[in-house]
Amino acid sequence: MKARKIREGVYWMGAVDWDRRLFDSLIPLPDGTSYNAYLAQGSERTVLFDTVDPTMADVLMFQLESVPRIDYVVAHHGEQDHSGTIPQVLEKYRNARVIATPKGKGMLIDLLCIPEERIVTVDDGETLSLGDRTLEFIHTPWVHWPETMVTYLQEERILFSCDFFGSHIATTDLYVTDEARVYEAAKRYYAEIMMPFRRVIKRNLDKVEKREIDLIAPSHGPVYDRPGFIIDAYGDWISEDPKNVVVLPYISMHGSTEKMVEYLVSALAERGVTVHQFNLAVTDIGKLAIALVDAATIVIGTPMVHVGPHPNVVYAAYLANALRPKLRFASVIGSYGWNSKAIEQIAGLIPDLKVEILSPVLCQGFPGEADFKALDDLAATIADKHREQNIA
Ligand code: FEO
Repeated sequence: MKARKIREGVYWMGAVDWDRRLFDSLIPLPDGTSYNAYLAQGSERTVLFDTVDPTMADVLMFQLESVPRIDYVVAHHGEQDHSGTIPQVLEKYRNARVIATPKGKGMLIDLLCIPEERIVTVDDGETLSLGDRTLEFIHTPWVHWPETMVTYLQEERILFSCDFFGSHIATTDLYVTDEARVYEAAKRYYAEIMMPFRRVIKRNLDKVEKREIDLIAPSHGPVYDRPGFIIDAYGDWISEDPKNVVVLPYISMHGSTEKMVEYLVSALAERGVTVHQFNLAVTDIGKLAIALVDAATIVIGTPMVHVGPHPNVVYAAYLANALRPKLRFASVIGSYGWNSKAIEQIAGLIPDLKVEILSPVLCQGFPGEADFKALDDLAATIADKHREQNIA
């Protein structure tokens, strides 16, 4: 892909990675991704915002063949999908220097061995004149590393936001054309990467919202030419209010736990509660993460492997704990053969969720009448708890 013009002297650059299916050896990318860099030319200085993943460095370097001069490379974030090609850019432009936050400087030295003398740091709110254009650097820590910042191009009202507001989509669309598709991808991105930092992201959102913004240019996915779309979505996702939703990740080995899941899902649905059921044997964990963004309750379904929860369930519980969604309640259901320590072990895996644990339902072997009654009671308790807390 060639560089593409956004405004006079402002260009999208970067690489579209159609084939990537896993990020950080953890996060599924069903729709690929892009590594967006941007170029802003002022009357006196030219700046490159971020670079690309080193696996696609040749794409960016080809685009830069027609750019005779770069004075600064703004490194919004130290993670290598954006910073990994900075060394090659500095090699080409011998007088260019990197702009980063003080924390970012340390990371660029540690991760990429960039010489200290080629990095300048900027304070929160500091500006840099490009001649007829002005950049304002806004520190936005923890979106999603401690060093992150964004840049506001004042005259054009463009916010270069790096990971903030990003979406993992490989597309030829420069701007968002299909909001529903981008909404899902951006929510997945938020859920997997940003959600643990929900509260600090709220402060950062308040900070950037003070600017008049015409375009948000993230480093993954298309540019937002209707910024309110993604700002409002983030406002909803980071709010303290969960929705009337239960997330139910489970595993079943011989059908007993599955029968309990099926019964509980029906009982909750009858009571007006939305349930997202995920069979962990086949689930895309990104889908599970998306569902956790809004959910008020998680119910974990597990059979016993020996006397503890199934390893896939351990993984899902650990992941939910790490993502720190705004859950308020949790419970466990499942079946055991001769003994179970599932409750204690699962509770030990989710200390950061700060949830009220509702009475679990465990049965020996296949569920019987008393077990189904207990599942009805659990469904009623969940529905009542949601209603009492005005969770709609
Ligand atoms: Fe897109 Fe945190 O890197």
